[in-house]
Amino acid sequence: MSVLIAIDGPAASGKGTLARRLARHFNVPHLDTGLLYRATAAGLLAQGARLDDVDQAVAVARGLALTDFNEDTLRGREMGEAASVVAAIPEVRDALIEAQRRFAARPEGAVLDGRDIGTVICPDAPVKIFVTASPETRAQRRALELAGRGEKVEFEAILEDIRKRDARDSGRSSAPLKAAEDALTLDTTKLGIEEAFAAALKIVTEKAPRG
Ligand code: DC
Repeated sequence: MSVLIAIDGPAASGKGTLARRLARHFNVPHLDTGLLYRATAAGLLAQGARLDDVDQAVAVARGLALTDFNEDTLRGREMGEAASVVAAIPEVRDALIEAQRRFAARPEGAVLDGRDIGTVICPDAPVKIFVTASPETRAQRRALELAGRGEKVEFEAILEDIRKRDARDSGRSSAPLKAAEDALTLDTTKLGIEEAFAAALKIVTEKAPRG
């Protein structure tokens, strides 16, 4: 029996960690869809193009191979911000829909995480989890992650980034960040990784009991 799990949530909410853990647990592939937008932004910047160059952005998005990401470059602070800008372009989102849906349709199942998985990419997914945490908690987690990558950034600057990204991702007209009506919300503000994973696992096993 296969399982399709849609995970959405704001930046640094813990959704990526949970998605990876769930995918490993159920032995299904995982797609971090934020990487698609990050790679599109990185491709544009590498060409010296502007982030609002719609034709170029669509061409880069269409040319992406889902398995071929240099995560080290893409996960940096600048690229998260740039990704959020290109992700607000409807034509870029359209160019990336089919590849994501194909990934989600794998016979063994899949876990996808992003901002619009439960609402747009996989509206029929049997399990949808909306992962949140307070902006301060998310900023703390992002600060630790960036420090681990050798990027030392002031906490206040990261909190400001997070607030700006939340506003842009939630306020855009095309596929804004929001919980699907049938998503269960998991607030990880006070949860450690293990507790959050146990809570997510409980949601999955209740929503999609495996035979
Ligand atoms: O999850 P992340 O921080 O890697 O995502 C980077 C940006 O990409 C995020 O600010 C908004 C955009 N994004 C999106 O619009 N839709 C998705 N499904 C995933 C990411």
